[in-house]
Amino acid sequence: MELTGQPVIAATGLFTPSDSITNEELVDSFNRFVALHNERHSDAIAAGEVEALQPSSVEFIEKASGIKARHVMSKAPVLDPEIMSPRWDERSNDELSMMAEIGVKACRQALERAGRDVADVDAVLCAASNMERAYPAMAVEIQQALGIDGFGFDMNVACSSATFGIQTAADYIRAGNAKSVLVVSPEITSGHLNWRDRDSHFIFGDVATAVLVEDAAVAPTEHWNILGTKLKTVFSNNIRNNFGFLNRAVPETEGTADKLFVQEGRKVFKEVVPMVAQMILDEADRLSIDPESLRRMWLHQANAGMNRLIAHKVLGHEANDDESPTVLDTYGNTSSAGSIIAFHLHSADLAAEDVGLICSFGAGYSAGCVFVQKTA
Ligand code: COA
Repeated sequence: MELTGQPVIAATGLFTPSDSITNEELVDSFNRFVALHNERHSDAIAAGEVEALQPSSVEFIEKASGIKARHVMSKAPVLDPEIMSPRWDERSNDELSMMAEIGVKACRQALERAGRDVADVDAVLCAASNMERAYPAMAVEIQQALGIDGFGFDMNVACSSATFGIQTAADYIRAGNAKSVLVVSPEITSGHLNWRDRDSHFIFGDVATAVLVEDAAVAPTEHWNILGTKLKTVFSNNIRNNFGFLNRAVPETEGTADKLFVQEGRKVFKEVVPMVAQMILDEADRLSIDPESLRRMWLHQANAGMNRLIAHKVLGHEANDDESPTVLDTYGNTSSAGSIIAFHLHSADLAAEDVGLICSFGAGYSAGCVFVQKTA
């Protein structure tokens, strides 16, 4: 078959953990932890040696972020004030690892929806904000579990990993180096969220998404043409996680709070909104797309207020839920998977020729745009 070099999104897949934590459950557990901590350190607090912890609130979380619940792989230990972290048995090297397991589930759904035989897939990119080990690459394990003959590698651009993965896959198609590439984003964010930190304990949720990027010549009739992709990075310390292989060189600070997710949320909000809105407008201009004509924007799912502002700047009016759907209310921030969940759940109703935008933004800073048009 003659390849076209035109990349398309052939199908997507989603794996959602069955367990979910509501804001009420989360705040109840957090406040029990705060009460325990303050009680245990009451003398030191009274002496001014230790600061008393402040309680969290459901109203704050919902108003500041729009998040009402989040899915997690391991609920009970996260809500146990004595643990506040996921827990599961260590798996042997012969068992499928945790990230691979949920990644494979999302990939299988994408393959099934595209009617794609694994024998015809060339590559797997595991694009996520954290890898559960240094090597071998998660992507290679997922590739093997699916039975794909080809190659795979991991890439991490934090919240923008999936859109960076889509552009990378699209470039393989454009260059004729592949005809079918899986971009999989297993995000077990509960493992790097500090559930004891009032400022951020409500933010993240676990999920896995998969995007099958293919050459138009082999894709199913109903697909999304990729009209254009644009990536941008600007260094910032405002979202940071210092966990890494050099931690053991400084044993005194191993396990301190900076080895988990930390952010200056307000600065992120203020700096990222204008950067992303401008990037979308510039890229739409380059592609000769009238931004106000975008049928739908599947935006990164970190904060409802950020999305409202970005969508307004791009569309020229206050976006409704049909123009800019929200999934962070039930999924929380799922890092790189957020815009893909929104696309997966809210794209089937679009008509042929409709143009939309998948857009992610986050740590790095990093931002990625994928303009798509529905066919058939
Ligand atoms: N419960 C109750 N009050 C809380 C609280 C909690 N869990 N966490 C913080 N507060 C308090 C603060 O102490 C502060 O009180 P003060 O005004 O008396 O000092 C007040 O609420 C406001 O805190 P702030 O951190 O400025 O809140 P915010 O309005 O910026 O909202 C975020 C916080 C994180 C929801 C928001 O900044 C955000 O989503 N930013 C973008 C994040 C993002 O996109 N990150 C990408 C990650 S991938």
